[in-house]
Amino acid sequence: MIRGVALVLICAALALVPYFYRLELQARIEPGPQADAQVPPSPAETPGSGSERPGPVEGLQLDAPGPEDPPGGSLEVVDGDDLFALVTKQTTLGQYKPHDLEVIPEKMIHPDQRQWPYLLRREPLEQLTKMWEAAEADGVLLTVTSAYRDYATQERLFNEYAAAYGEEEASTFSARPGQSEHQLGTTLDFDPRGGKAGWDWLEENAHHYGFALSYPDAQAITGYIEEPWHYRYIGVAAAREWKESGLVLCEYLKLLQHRSAQQPVFNSSILKDPFR
Ligand code: DAL
Ligand code: ZN
Repeated sequence: MIRGVALVLICAALALVPYFYRLELQARIEPGPQADAQVPPSPAETPGSGSERPGPVEGLQLDAPGPEDPPGGSLEVVDGDDLFALVTKQTTLGQYKPHDLEVIPEKMIHPDQRQWPYLLRREPLEQLTKMWEAAEADGVLLTVTSAYRDYATQERLFNEYAAAYGEEEASTFSARPGQSEHQLGTTLDFDPRGGKAGWDWLEENAHHYGFALSYPDAQAITGYIEEPWHYRYIGVAAAREWKESGLVLCEYLKLLQHRSAQQPVFNSSILKDPFR
């Protein structure tokens, strides 16, 4: 009997390990919330304004992105209006700023972070609203902890992390300015309430609303450590295909680029679709 109870307790403790690991990672790393709160931003720098993987896809040459910037600073400039823009350590958005940013309703923002407006482009905001309401109906409170960040905000964040952790370590969890998906205005960080159930809901449902997890446990491919809270909007059709593919998001976006030369694939009502 006692051995049985002990066994149950050990199993329960083991089941909670991934959950606490996530909390620890998020508390330490993600800029959106706490780090932004520690250093009050200027108006121009508010956070708002500012298993088994499949084998290679036939016919697709995936360059290993490699964790570091190319030597000599030869970054490829990408267009942030492209819904499928490849935003990596080898590319730059420059000073790109989206033209249709809107304020995310306060109820969707983490309660500790409602002192600033958080911005998102119109189409992802519409989809976020649907997702947030569906989660709420399922008893899950999705709270947003970071959304659009402009170049200057990302620069400030990266510099703060570099000062605290050293540049090399900082670059494993924070993008350099011009290289953050948050600059697209389509990317969000979440801190779902309700423990593991909240995180599971996000993982199981986000793609139905067009959101894809950018940084799974695949640092050799993305250059960043795992970030279970960081989702980028790529449209519903693409996100569903991405989920089914089992590919890391940057690999999937390369697959789309490869295909785009051949045939149009997805439409997005507002954002620029390179395949239209
Ligand atoms: N934390 C991600 C990599 C970013 O800074 O955009
Ligand atoms: Zn993020």
